[in-house]
Amino acid sequence: MSREMEIKRMRSKEREYRMNSSVDDGKDYIITTKGLTKRYKNFTSVNKLNINVKRGSIYGLLGPNGAGKSTTMKMLLGLTAPTAGRFKIDGMTMPNNRIEILSEIGSFIESPSYYPNLTGRENLDIIRRILNLKKKDVDIALELVGLTEFADRLVKKYSLGMKQRLGLAGALIGKPPILILDEPTNGLDPAGIHEIRNLIKQLPEMYDCTILISSHLLSEIELLADDIGVLNHGRLLYEGTIDALRAEARMQGFETNKLEELFLTMIEADNHARKQRAVL
Ligand SMILES: Nc1ncnc2c1ncn2[C@@H]1O[C@H](COP(=O)(O)OP(=O)(O)O)[C@@H](O)[C@H]1O
Ligand SMILES: [Mg+2]
Repeated sequence: MSREMEIKRMRSKEREYRMNSSVDDGKDYIITTKGLTKRYKNFTSVNKLNINVKRGSIYGLLGPNGAGKSTTMKMLLGLTAPTAGRFKIDGMTMPNNRIEILSEIGSFIESPSYYPNLTGRENLDIIRRILNLKKKDVDIALELVGLTEFADRLVKKYSLGMKQRLGLAGALIGKPPILILDEPTNGLDPAGIHEIRNLIKQLPEMYDCTILISSHLLSEIELLADDIGVLNHGRLLYEGTIDALRAEARMQGFETNKLEELFLTMIEADNHARKQRAVL
């Protein structure tokens, strides 16, 4: 397929997603955004984003660095206000239901920081007190992430993988129904990535939850997520199931075991189209 045709296809797909964005906020979707936008001065970081996260699913927000993944998550967590658009979380809206929404979400945004001179358990105990949870919730969280054995070691002696696990423990302490995890495997070696990925994958079965996770690697997300949203320069290029993406890859003549190539082609085609628009 020529580049021009490819771009045209992507454009029409994008229109389709935008038009289909009037998905019901009903009980099937725990997070929905409508035209969610964040502008910094004259720079648009998130652009009219419509994403729909199914209850009980793992949704992967995928995009290269600077695509707007963290900004999107920060808006959902009320850490930064949208410039335009809106979103619903479990039928509730910000800022009206801020406290109720936040009590339903456990989050891990960028690299969480810890007190290095306290143990893993002591660090979690601080979070537990802030959230007004029971003492045993710390042990449950440690157990869920497999840190029980290292709970009384100082965090400054933790490996990076152990710190990421502690970050996850901090997110899932109290078993919140929604987890928002921003690139939780960043900076880990392949073994660490594997370890964290397996853990995240098991969470919805271990206890009832919905996970919104971001990554810049499709190879990582495709093994985890039920649905993905592909983001580039703040805009949603694709939303759908991994299986639908595989079918799309087959149609475009990619080998389906090389989904990463399709993802990179999508991003490249969009970047090319942006340049063309900029010239016009
Ligand atoms: N506070 C800010 N002021 C200005 N620009 C910002 C700010 N935060 C993020 N951005 C810009 O918004 C874009 C998206 O950033 P981000 O959401 O962190 O992307 P991602 O998490 O996908 O890598 C980037 O170009 C980034 O530089
Ligand atoms: Mg980010």
